[in-house]
Amino acid sequence: MRMETLADSYRTFAKREASGISPTYEAYACSVAESGTLLELLLQLPSGKQQPNLLFAATRHVIGLPDQDTDFARHALGAWDAIVPVILSRSTQTNEPGRCACFLPAFAQLEGPLAILEVGASAGLCLLPDLYGYDYGRSVLAPARQGGPVFPCQASAQTPLPHAHPQIAWRAGLDLNPLDVGKDEDMDWLKTLVWPEQKTRRTRLEAAIEMAKSQPPRVIAGDLIAQTEALASEAPSGTRLVIFHTAVLTYVSPEARKEFAVLVKDLGAEWLANESVRTLPDVAPSAILEAHPGAFVLSRNGHAIARTGPHGQFIEWL
Ligand SMILES: C[S@@+](CC[C@H](N)C(=O)[O-])C[C@H]1O[C@@H](n2cnc3c(N)ncnc32)[C@H](O)[C@@H]1O
Repeated sequence: MRMETLADSYRTFAKREASGISPTYEAYACSVAESGTLLELLLQLPSGKQQPNLLFAATRHVIGLPDQDTDFARHALGAWDAIVPVILSRSTQTNEPGRCACFLPAFAQLEGPLAILEVGASAGLCLLPDLYGYDYGRSVLAPARQGGPVFPCQASAQTPLPHAHPQIAWRAGLDLNPLDVGKDEDMDWLKTLVWPEQKTRRTRLEAAIEMAKSQPPRVIAGDLIAQTEALASEAPSGTRLVIFHTAVLTYVSPEARKEFAVLVKDLGAEWLANESVRTLPDVAPSAILEAHPGAFVLSRNGHAIARTGPHGQFIEWL
C-alpha cells in the first residue's frame, strides 16, 4: 500500500467511524494521516497490522495517553520500539459481554438444560449469560451476584423477554487466540480496546471481568472449522447443544462461513448467530440492512429473528 492510500484510510476512519463517537480517536487518526514518518513505519508492518484500532490500542496500552491528544503521532513515534511488539502480538479481539442481552431472549426459547459452545469467544465473557443482569427497559433481570454488571438493552415491544436466566449445564469456548481472565496483561488489553469515551462500557467490562474471575470460562485455542466438532462432542448427554457466536464471522472467508453453517447443521446443534448484516447476507432480509445500516442480525438456524445493536444496545424482534 502506498503512503497516500494509508493516510486516506486514516482520514476515512476519522470521518466515518470516529466522528461523533470518539473525538479522541478522530484526533489520533488525523494526526497519523499527517505524519509521513509514522505512515512509513506502519507500512513496514504486515497489512493486517496497519489499522487504526490496533495502533491506537497498542499505543494506549504501552504509554497511556491524554484523551483527544492532537499530537498522537509524536507520542507514538517516541515509543515505537515498545509499541511494535504489542501490535504484532495482539489483535482487536474486543470481548463485549453486553451482547449477551441479545442472546438471552433466544436462549429462553430453547428447552434446557443447555450446553453452550461459543466460537470466537475471545476471553469467554459471553459464555456467562446466566451471571449478568439485564435492563430491558420494561423488565429487569438482576445479576446472579450482587455487584455484577447490569447491561442495558432497549427491547422492542415484540421482543419476548425472559423472566429468568437460562439453565446452563455445560459451557465452553473456542478462539484462535483465547484471552485468559486470570491474566492481568490480557485483561488490560481487553480494557484498552474499549474506545476512550466509552467509560460506562468500560466500567461494565471491568465488572464482568471481576465476575468471570470467580467462574473462569473455559476457552480453548482452535479454529472454528477445525475444532468445533471435537469440542461439541464433550457436551453432556441430556443437554441441548447450542453453538453461538457474535462479531466473529467477519474474520473468516465467505467459503468458511458456508462450511461452518453446514458443520453446525450436521452436528444437530441449535445455531445462534449475532453478526453484521453483511456477514450473513443469506439470513437477513434486505429490509434489515436498509432500516439500520450498522445493525447486527440475530439468527436461529439460519433464519433472522431479531435486529440487534452491535454492542447489545438494543434488540428488535422481527
Ligand atoms: C471481535 S472478537 C469477538 C469476541 C466475542 N465473540 C464477543 O462478541 O465479545 C472476534 C474473535 O473471533 C476470533 N476468531 C477469528 N477467527 C476465528 C476462527 N477462525 N476460529 C476461532 N476464532 C476466531 C478472534 O480471535 C477474536 O477473539
